[in-house]
Amino acid sequence: MTTLATQLALQLNESIGLEPPPQPFLKWAGGKSQLLAQLLPLFPKKFNCYHEPFLGGAAVYWYLFSLKEKGTILFDGVRLSDINEELINCYIHVRSNLDNLIQELDFLKRNHNPENYYKVRELNPLNLSSVQRAARFIYLNKTCYNGLYRVNRSGKFNVPMGSYQDPRIFSAEQLIRNSYALQNVAIECTNFQTVLDWAEPSDFIYFDPPYVPLSKTASFTSYTKYPFGQEQQRELAEVFHTLNDRGCKLMLSNSWSEPVINLYQNFHCIELKASRAINSNAERRGKISELLVINYSPDYSNPT
Ligand SMILES: C[S@@+](CC[C@H](N)C(=O)[O-])C[C@H]1O[C@@H](n2cnc3c(N)ncnc32)[C@H](O)[C@@H]1O
Repeated sequence: MTTLATQLALQLNESIGLEPPPQPFLKWAGGKSQLLAQLLPLFPKKFNCYHEPFLGGAAVYWYLFSLKEKGTILFDGVRLSDINEELINCYIHVRSNLDNLIQELDFLKRNHNPENYYKVRELNPLNLSSVQRAARFIYLNKTCYNGLYRVNRSGKFNVPMGSYQDPRIFSAEQLIRNSYALQNVAIECTNFQTVLDWAEPSDFIYFDPPYVPLSKTASFTSYTKYPFGQEQQRELAEVFHTLNDRGCKLMLSNSWSEPVINLYQNFHCIELKASRAINSNAERRGKISELLVINYSPDYSNPT
């Protein structure tokens, strides 16, 4: 019997190929695609296992995977997680049940219109099969306003429909590349702290938590019904220090702000420039500083 991994490898070799490399198939607030060029020289070149406990749209993992395929970065073993249950269910189906997922997505795509958007939004995910849940998640993500993920206190998705003429809900070819990159990858719905149970010395962990807001009026992104405030930021810094003592290689993103820099003052704090994607105040659009913390010396002399 051929496994899904073998089928995917055959399709990739015969008809699709890994170019362009896998990329995010979801819109995700705080996605790191625009920062990859700045992160590239800062990634460690060799490590054991890769962990990403705030996975979101997985921009960094897709990129690392393509670098690994080219042989520019060496690692073995991957563990990806996020606390958002719908998101993780979706990655599990992309990894292990792609044909059925594509069938469900195709149905939603063919029937997309405003009336059906709100009907699909009203469905209770708990009354659907897990593959229908995954397809609903991708469908809503690609057709809702700005790709926002926002839920109310009881966890119900409440974003209105976006005004796209012809939303690109999915590309089967793109999902095949993503699925290939997820074969043999551990994917888990869990709080970031469980990385302590898995990470071993010489593993590399990239942390991309919800950012500390730069002002009281800064737009708040509720990725989940669980809050991520000062207490969670402090707990995260403790996890970072524990893993540093264990001998792991660590990289962390957050906003460029004094309270965050204070939490990581023993490590390399690097300033990156990012474009502000969404800001209703035109004067505040443009480049803003972001913080990148690493606990190892970046090997600038060996650009990948
Ligand atoms: C800034 S986003 C990550 C974006 C991602 N790096 C990308 O490129 O798309 C932060 C993520 O943290 C997740 N999250 C929030 N609280 C969490 C927690 N306590 N444990 C694990 N993940 C959490 C959210 O669901 C969200 O996907």
